[in-house]
Amino acid sequence: MSVRRLAPPEQQPKEFSFTKENVDWAKATIAKYPEGRQFSAVIPLLMRAQEQIGGWLPQKAIERVADMLGMPYIRALEIATFYTQFQLAPVGRKAHIQVCGTTPCMLRGAGELIKVCQHRIHHDPFHLSEDGNLSWEEVECAGACVNAPMAQVHKDVYEDLTPESFEKIIDALARGEKPKTGPQIGRRSSEPVSGLTSLTDPSLFDGSMVGQGAGLAAARAAVASRQAPAPAADAPAKPPAAPAVKAEGEADREKVGGKPTSGKKGK
Ligand code: FES
Repeated sequence: MSVRRLAPPEQQPKEFSFTKENVDWAKATIAKYPEGRQFSAVIPLLMRAQEQIGGWLPQKAIERVADMLGMPYIRALEIATFYTQFQLAPVGRKAHIQVCGTTPCMLRGAGELIKVCQHRIHHDPFHLSEDGNLSWEEVECAGACVNAPMAQVHKDVYEDLTPESFEKIIDALARGEKPKTGPQIGRRSSEPVSGLTSLTDPSLFDGSMVGQGAGLAAARAAVASRQAPAPAADAPAKPPAAPAVKAEGEADREKVGGKPTSGKKGK
């Protein structure tokens, strides 16, 4: 985890204001929250400011958002400096790549992905590539551990990466393209890597069973198959029922002078 500080003064713009379109969007967003809860709009507004500026949040933008919400500057600064989704210094013009370095991704090869970033972009995180188009950082778990290792670029995630597939994604980003997001090994979502083992009948998903009662019929068949078979005529006698055993125990206890544990209340 890196120390998160605002960019130095020489990198900070002197002022910030939202575009007319973003002002309208911000007003509509703030209005979604109940009266007295307008502070809750701080994260979407900070994110919109970051998008408008090109991927990072100058101090003036954070303060502008705080002003719009009637929020003390320190509260908005606390939020902007806490979440790694907010960048506090200029990032690559075309992409800022966040590589997950938490344990599941590390065990699945995130270290190799970081080497790719060092080789392709800059040795150190938060530094721009020579052409200023790319930058990178290591972040904590981004919530795609089942598809580890992964990397994120703004709202897009790239999963099941290898150094080779990651390099191709970086190439595409550098060309200004939008690479295919999600798993890069052909699996859908977080399906098992070794292929499906259940729910493999395509008719379960093509809509052909809708309205057919097929699901209900299957459920009834499953329940029926679990019904206990009727006892055979020559089956051995059942053990005594639990209440009978309990009554016998109480009688024995009274014979030896002990107090019953239930039924009659001893004094
Ligand atoms: S550990 Fe990498 S996404 Fe969770």
